[in-house]
Amino acid sequence: MSLNTAVSDPKSVFSAADIVLDTAYQGIKQPEWQDLFAQAKKANLGQFIQDLFAGKHVNASEDRPALHSALRNLDKTPVIVDGQDVMPAVADVWHRIEALCNKWIGVTDVIHIGIGGSDFGPRLAIEALAHVPNIESRGMRMHFLANIDTADLGRILQRALPHSTRVIIVSKSFTTLETTKNAKAVVRWLKDSGRTESQINNALFAVTANVPAAKEFGVKPENIYPFWDWVGGRYSVWSAVGLPIALQYGFDTFKEFLAGAQAIDHHYQSAPLEQNLPVLMALSLLYQQEKHNIKSFAVIPYADALDWFPKWLQQLDMESNGKSVDRNGKPVKFSCPVVFGSSGSNAQHSYFQLLHQGKEVIPIDFIAIREPMSTLPEAKEHHRILLSNCLAQAQALANGKQTDNPNNTYPGKRPSNLLILPKLNAFYLGALLALYENRTTTLGALWNINSFDQPGVELGKVLAKPIETALRNGGKVNQDEHIDAITASRINLFNKT
Ligand code: F6P
Repeated sequence: MSLNTAVSDPKSVFSAADIVLDTAYQGIKQPEWQDLFAQAKKANLGQFIQDLFAGKHVNASEDRPALHSALRNLDKTPVIVDGQDVMPAVADVWHRIEALCNKWIGVTDVIHIGIGGSDFGPRLAIEALAHVPNIESRGMRMHFLANIDTADLGRILQRALPHSTRVIIVSKSFTTLETTKNAKAVVRWLKDSGRTESQINNALFAVTANVPAAKEFGVKPENIYPFWDWVGGRYSVWSAVGLPIALQYGFDTFKEFLAGAQAIDHHYQSAPLEQNLPVLMALSLLYQQEKHNIKSFAVIPYADALDWFPKWLQQLDMESNGKSVDRNGKPVKFSCPVVFGSSGSNAQHSYFQLLHQGKEVIPIDFIAIREPMSTLPEAKEHHRILLSNCLAQAQALANGKQTDNPNNTYPGKRPSNLLILPKLNAFYLGALLALYENRTTTLGALWNINSFDQPGVELGKVLAKPIETALRNGGKVNQDEHIDAITASRINLFNKT
């Protein structure tokens, strides 16, 4: 992969919804691309995309569709799930979100309680959009409470003003331990702060696919915003899970976010495989896997606003595709590499040494934004430096540098994609997230993996229960049918026996 080969390939730049993808530094030659497209066709990718959007039960293990695309279907064209159009129910939630946006006067603090897919998406969006110059914002303090560790809880409860706080409990299942425990703790804090029962009831909101459990918890029915079992948790930011976006930045901004995602969905459904951005991104990863047996993948947004993006992508990719067996229970040859990343140029001063000279080849997606994220006098110059670093890193990684001194030699041939967003606003943020969602499900289709279940997260949760009991009871613990010898002795270290 020399620089010249890349430049001589005219077919490396593609775009969708004004987002540009440049694959030149993947070092994939045209005949190799043709092989990759043939592979995608052999995997029936076109049919998979049709089935996904048509509400077929692509999540076979849970026997349900994966229709997050319906949540951003602003045209409201019918989407049929098991014989029924879901769009009226989706649109009803939009109307209720809009009405709520106009109601929240004098709210100083919002405590958003949720974890995993009920946390990353809204947290990323709130953070990212806060960096948009001159964005209209209600200026509420948005506190995201995810971990069962009381560190965040304590910090948030110190800052929030109980009389003007609203609480949104976000959980698809409404059974997630971290979320229900944190919700109870926040209700306890409201009580201790002197709020009456009816004031607490008015302050509590829920977003869930398990409405009975939210009612049972004590949330008033009119404060419950439903979503549905056909929305995977990690694909759910487009539902009422994204409520904080609308509350903080206005319903029109939330709609823009959905519109950006919808634009990418249209592209994903209609563009030929050879020009289809999510497909090209997925195939380039597959190529590196087959060629270099890569085990890791890095995503480096050159934008502080997108600092949460790698964490969001980690769940999306690794919870979706981190599996060893395919849809038929057969072992897979390849599945999801380890995903990591953080914002550039900070990342350059951390682990780029390994990206340049480590033994492993790690493909990278660089994400750059054309416009600076501030209007400060220094903004243009700093942004130029930021972009030049992004471009230089990709070039250095691809071409390397040979010297007589092995310590100063860069092997090169380190592949990367470049994505360019015209600017960062709600529309392009929505488009970026949908681009990666569609890339993730494309990879699942290519590996023949069900990208919509997560059975691997259950075992640890089950094992934590008897261990919690043992820690609660204190005293010496012996190995039994739930707790092995090593863990028993570790419990004893905590119980100081
Ligand atoms: O980690 C497992 C998981 O089920 C994720 O898939 C999900 O995003 C997260 O827990 C939270 O689940 P819930 O929204 O049901 O509380």
